[in-house]
Amino acid sequence: MIKVAFYDTKPYDRQSFERFGTTRGVQFKYLEAKLCEDTAELARGCDAVCVFVNDTVNAAVIDRLYALGVRLIALRSAGYNNVDVQHAFGKIHVVHVPAYSPYAVAEHAMALLLTSVRRIHKAYNRTREFNFSLNGLTGFDFHGKTAGVIGTGKIGRIFIDICRGFGMNVIAYDPFPVPDSGIEYVEPDELYSRSDIISLHCPLTGSTRHMIGAEAISKMKKGVVIVNTSRGALIDAEALLDGIKARKIGAACLDVYEEEADVFFEDRSGHILDDELLSRLISMPNVIVTSHQAFLTEEALGNIAETTVNNILSCFENDGACDNELCYRCGSIEKCKKSRKEKCF
Ligand code: NAI
Repeated sequence: MIKVAFYDTKPYDRQSFERFGTTRGVQFKYLEAKLCEDTAELARGCDAVCVFVNDTVNAAVIDRLYALGVRLIALRSAGYNNVDVQHAFGKIHVVHVPAYSPYAVAEHAMALLLTSVRRIHKAYNRTREFNFSLNGLTGFDFHGKTAGVIGTGKIGRIFIDICRGFGMNVIAYDPFPVPDSGIEYVEPDELYSRSDIISLHCPLTGSTRHMIGAEAISKMKKGVVIVNTSRGALIDAEALLDGIKARKIGAACLDVYEEEADVFFEDRSGHILDDELLSRLISMPNVIVTSHQAFLTEEALGNIAETTVNNILSCFENDGACDNELCYRCGSIEKCKKSRKEKCF
C-alpha cells in the first residue's frame, strides 16, 4: 500500500478519492488541516502528500517532508504556484492534474458573467421576498460586445467558444498564441482599450502577478466587466476596489482572491471577517464572489481523483516518465529528463 497524507480534505474530495484510491493500492490519510510548516509532521509514515491550491509547499515544508521520507507531492489541482518546484527538484517529485474539466471553469466564468450582467443574484433575492420590481436590474446584451480573453490555453479557448455562441467578438492576449486558431490576438493595451468584458485564464507567475493593476485599469473602457477564475493575485485587489469606487469598472466577478487561503473553502458565517478589502469588495453591489468554486463539478472531481491516483501509482511503480510530473526545467528539451521519457530527476 502506498500511504498518502491528504491535506485540506473536504467531504466531496473524500467521496471521489475513496472511489478511485483504495481498490488500487493507495491508502489516504485524510487530514482537515492545510499543509504548512506546523502540519508537515502529520505526514510522518507516509510516502506522499496530496495537496490543493491553498496548501503551503514552500522550501521549509519541502525540507521537512523530505526529512520525514515523503517522496512525492501530488497536487490535485492544475495550478502549482503554491509549490516551490525548484526547491523540490532532486528531492521530492511533484505531479499535478493538468486538466480535469476545463469546461467546469469556463462555464463557471460565464455563469458569473451572466449572473452579474443580468442581475440574477439580485432578482433571486427580490422574488423570494415577493418583490417583483425591475428597478435597478437593467443589464446589457452580450451579442455584439467585445470579450477580451487573457490566456488562450484549455480553459480560455473553451470560454472563447462560449462567448462566440453569444455572438460576441473575441480578442485575446497570450505570449504563446495558438497557431491557426482563428483567434484575433492583440497586445494587452489594445485588449484593455477595446474590451467590454475581460476574462483572465492565464497562470499566476512572477510576471503575471498584479497584471490587472491601476495602470491596466486606467486603459480599460468605462463600465468594463472583469472576470477572474484563474488566480487571485493576477489582480491587485486594492486597485480593483479603487476602479469600482471610481465607477470605472462596471462589475467584477471573482472566483479567486489574492488572500483567499485564510478565508475560502470554510464556513465563516457568524465570524467577523478580518480582511477589510474582501469585506469591502463583497459589499459592493456590482461584485460577485464565489469561493474558488469554478472547478466543482461531478465530472471534474472524478477526473481529479482518477488522475491523481494514476499519478501516484505511476511515480512509485514506474521507472519511466510520469506525464504529469513537474519540475522547473520542464519545457526545456535539453535539460528536463522527462523529454527523454525519464522522471524529471
Ligand atoms: P493552460 O496551461 O492550458 O493555459 C494557460 C495559458 O495562459 C497558456 O496558453 C499560456 O501560454 C498562457 N499564458 C502564460 N503566461 C501568460 C501571460 N503573461 N499572459 C497571458 N497568457 C499567458 O491552463 P488552463 O487549464 O487553461 O488554466 C488556466 C488557469 O486557470 C490555471 O493557471 C489556474 O490558475 C486556473 N484554474 C482555476 C480553477 C478554479 O477552480 N478557479 C481550476 C483550474 C484552473
